[in-house]
Amino acid sequence: MKIIVFGASGYAGSAIYQLLKNDPQTEVIGTYLDDPGMFDDLYKLDVNEPESFSAFFKQIQPDAVVWSVMSGPYEDELINEGLLHLINHLSPETKLVYISTDFVFADGYGPYTEDSVITKLPDEHVLSTYANAKVKAERFIRNDLINCVILRAGPIYGKNSLGKRDERTNQLLTSLRQGETTAYRDDLIRTFVHVDDLAAAVKAFAMNELTGVYHAGPNQRASFYSFMRRMAESLGYDKELVQRAEKEELPDKEIPKNTALATEKIVKETNLHFRPLP
Ligand SMILES: NC(=O)c1ccc[n+]([C@@H]2O[C@H](COP(=O)([O-])OP(=O)(O)OC[C@H]3O[C@@H](n4cnc5c(N)ncnc54)[C@H](OP(=O)(O)O)[C@@H]3O)[C@@H](O)[C@H]2O)c1
Repeated sequence: MKIIVFGASGYAGSAIYQLLKNDPQTEVIGTYLDDPGMFDDLYKLDVNEPESFSAFFKQIQPDAVVWSVMSGPYEDELINEGLLHLINHLSPETKLVYISTDFVFADGYGPYTEDSVITKLPDEHVLSTYANAKVKAERFIRNDLINCVILRAGPIYGKNSLGKRDERTNQLLTSLRQGETTAYRDDLIRTFVHVDDLAAAVKAFAMNELTGVYHAGPNQRASFYSFMRRMAESLGYDKELVQRAEKEELPDKEIPKNTALATEKIVKETNLHFRPLP
């Protein structure tokens, strides 16, 4: 089985790529944009560039593709160009596993199931570029494809199989090592998912027959404050260095409060396991 991982140099993508590489049943081809990271066998490709995208895709002719691409301020371009190129090249035989986000639930009244309605943030909202592009991407995929899985994840954490950690934990570690206190919000509730568990879920969906929307993660929710206290303790530091942040938000800039994901469906329909919080 031949699988392309778009974004194989990234935090989640590198864990997915490594996991697939370890499986003798799969031939995996990974792409990067600027920095291949730990790998020396990735293919340099800008998914927004139509000619090179087309040449690459036609040469590989994959059985499955994984979208683990992210581009922060340019997310909209990535969806309008890169994702649409991909959708236009996919035949019904090729399965897409698209990694989406809990930020598609902009109203913030979770927990949300796979059937909950996705909503956009107001265009002027500081977080709207990424969140709304992901909403748009899910709509494109659901309108145009059948052989696909939209796998939604909340904040992804943990040291991946290549030793790479998420940025949030890296920042926490920097403060902890200096003995400094850091404050996190206690009113922002999320479903945190370990990067290696997410990678295992992506691999399973790339190789199995299931299609549709699935939420990844344990059946456990936490605020950033309580999650980071657990994380500090699990890393061997004093959890009291993690403090509760004061909430100071303008109403039109509010961050969605509870975007927790109900994860019963994935547990019921697959044999995947998501580890409890640290
Ligand atoms: N991180 C989270 O907490 C989180 C939570 C929920 C969902 N997600 C989703 O999970 C997926 C992976 O996220 P991540 O945190 O692993 O992202 P990441 O570490 O920022 O990696 C992004 C990847 O996208 C590649 N890329 C960016 N622009 C590209 C372009 N124009 N053409 C080709 N490749 C391009 C990057 O290549 P270079 O490395 O070469 O620049 C990198 O491989 C994304 O779909 C994201 O929306 C992430």
